[in-house]
Amino acid sequence: MTILVSGKNGQLGHCLVDRLNFSDLDYISLDKKEMDITKYDETARIIGEIKPRVIINTAAYTDVEKSEIDKKDAILANESGPENLSKICKKIDTPLIHISTDYVFDGRSEIPYKPEDDVNPKSFYGMSKLAGEQRIQENCDSYMIIRTSWLFSEYGKNFLKTMLKISKQKKTIDVICDQIGCPTYAGHLADAILKPIKKISENNFDSGIYHYAGDQECSWFEFTNEIFFVANNLGYIEKIPNLNKILAKDFQAKAKRPNYSVLDSSKFCKAFGVNPSNWKESLPDVIKSAVLA
Ligand SMILES: NC(=O)c1ccc[n+]([C@@H]2O[C@H](COP(=O)([O-])OP(=O)(O)OC[C@H]3O[C@@H](n4cnc5c(N)ncnc54)[C@H](OP(=O)(O)O)[C@@H]3O)[C@@H](O)[C@H]2O)c1
Repeated sequence: MTILVSGKNGQLGHCLVDRLNFSDLDYISLDKKEMDITKYDETARIIGEIKPRVIINTAAYTDVEKSEIDKKDAILANESGPENLSKICKKIDTPLIHISTDYVFDGRSEIPYKPEDDVNPKSFYGMSKLAGEQRIQENCDSYMIIRTSWLFSEYGKNFLKTMLKISKQKKTIDVICDQIGCPTYAGHLADAILKPIKKISENNFDSGIYHYAGDQECSWFEFTNEIFFVANNLGYIEKIPNLNKILAKDFQAKAKRPNYSVLDSSKFCKAFGVNPSNWKESLPDVIKSAVLA
């Protein structure tokens, strides 16, 4: 059985490929140049040639701030791309695994969000990702939409890598303290996707929306503290910068984000026998790899 991974150069794409390389699973991974999911004919032809038994779509327009300006590009990648894939998957009777986001929620909840909770995105990125979810639900019968949050890894652009870089440049750093979420190591998400992959490829699962995220909630401020504590212990940061708590309203951001976007991963974890991402435990290895990369 061949697994097809789209968006292979992203954080999650990289983590999936790392794991697939050490597995006995047959796979093909493609980047945007090799398969642009916004182009229906090209994507249908490539998928028709590969004949995958399951498709994992990690491709997306993920810049939350730029999405407020580049609306067309965000919609193309986050709505039209998944729509194309879902139509193709339906035609060839192949399950689609697609990744979505905690930013589909407005953050008014005080308890972790379950997959069936009401959505109400505050940002254009969140709206475009929600539209992608909806197109998949309309167009194909066999799909798994996995919402995740605050992804970090040794690869690509992410909060952890940005903070490590800034720590070398600034003595004091302002960090938001009133947005709460669950950091998720992309490697753990990749493991969680691959564990039930055979079942999914055989259509032996319940189609629907699932959540998979970190096991402990925190604010961006607390996340930064953890990153710097570990990096300092490992000797990658000589002196921890002063951290200054600020409120989201005082941070100049174009996109509005939920103040609370903790995801309840229990449906996914129960169904497939995995644990939520123990992100704190992953920090030393991720920081070591991020610094070496
Ligand atoms: N990052 C987070 O904090 C976060 C949080 C919640 C959910 N998610 C979701 O998790 C998934 C994986 O995120 P990530 O952090 O791994 O993203 P990422 O690092 O930004 O990677 C996304 C990849 O998709 C590619 N791509 C963009 N448009 C494409 C297209 N039209 N066709 C094919 N490939 C395309 C990008 O290529 P180029 O770089 O060449 O454009 C990039 O390699 C996404 O669905 C994202 O929405 C992410």
